[in-house]
Amino acid sequence: MNSRIYLDHNATSPLRPEAEEIIARFSKESLGNPSSIHSTGRKVRRLIDDAREEVARFIGANPSEIVFTSGGTESNHLAWNAFAREGSRIVTTSVEHASLLAAAERAKTTGAQLIQISVFKDGGIHPSEMESALESNPDLISVQHANNETGVVFPIQQWRTTGRKHTDAVQSVGKLDVDVHNLGVDFLSLSGHKLGTPSGVGALYVRRGSPFETLWDGGAQEKGRRTGTENVLGILCFGAVCKHLREEGATERTRIERLRNNFEKELTDRIDGIRITGASQPRVPNTSHVMFDRLDGESLLIACDLEGIECSTGAACSSGSLRPSHVLLAMGFSPENAQGSLRFSLGWNTTESEISQAVETLPKLVAQVRNAGHNYAQKKTG
Ligand SMILES: Cc1ncc(COP(=O)(O)O)c(C=O)c1O
Repeated sequence: MNSRIYLDHNATSPLRPEAEEIIARFSKESLGNPSSIHSTGRKVRRLIDDAREEVARFIGANPSEIVFTSGGTESNHLAWNAFAREGSRIVTTSVEHASLLAAAERAKTTGAQLIQISVFKDGGIHPSEMESALESNPDLISVQHANNETGVVFPIQQWRTTGRKHTDAVQSVGKLDVDVHNLGVDFLSLSGHKLGTPSGVGALYVRRGSPFETLWDGGAQEKGRRTGTENVLGILCFGAVCKHLREEGATERTRIERLRNNFEKELTDRIDGIRITGASQPRVPNTSHVMFDRLDGESLLIACDLEGIECSTGAACSSGSLRPSHVLLAMGFSPENAQGSLRFSLGWNTTESEISQAVETLPKLVAQVRNAGHNYAQKKTG
């Protein structure tokens, strides 16, 4: 195999041409500080405003409701900040991204009361738990729109609450139609590098009039809502990518979904003892989480890497640790099942021939790893 087959778009999606164009343009033109009053500063301010408008249009928001941040992690913490106080009641789930779980831990230490809804083995949320949590009139409900590991989509629009609603939409924006009014949310987190911008840029949608507290004082940027000099180049890339996705994203998504479905069909036809996690639930169109019997996912991941196929054992941030994924454990899988799984996530530059090569190669690698006896039980004792 000559070139790498990158199937890890949920971790970071490679730079899109629209972002590359921005970077190339501004490596020649100088970019000043948008807070400066001189012409260069004012020009940059206008460019940021244009990008803000593109990001807002992409999710059906008003530009004044977009706060640029460093990414999904910061947006999640920022959304929760006003609710992390004595006496507030917050509803969330056990399968959120690590950054949201950390915001929840922090809120607990400041006296907030947390209600954590569980999920079923198919990834779907427990409806009666959610119903009774909503009846307790929470101040905030915060549930991810799509899970980063399984791709399962949660019915955010269905839940009515007297309080505020936040969704971590880092894994759904660009993969589904996301509209803040259809979802009925007050806060929505986005991240640029999942869409093909450089990493280090993101946004939080804050519906006008929502309770809000900045994380840090000491600047007037983003109308004081997110202080510190803006990541100008990142923001401009974010705007360009959102514009492109608004105009052409639907065609791309249909293409990716067809590739993902072929990938899953071929794998299940060719390899025994495998299951697609969350297959009976609505899922984002690019993600395939596969559970393999009788093998250790990390050993398979390494075998894939040696053959040029790049995928993930789950959340990128927890790779490097041997702990089974908290998402799969919360879904009710054993540590052995959790460790025997891989996530393949397709994206804008995935081709049909890459998927054909991957489904040709994977059965051989699975057989190799199984024959070598690399499984979780053995690893634990070995
Ligand atoms: C669902 C979800 N939320 C938040 C994040 C964090 O985003 P960022 O890497 O931009 O901080 C990620 C990244 O993997 C994610 O998948």
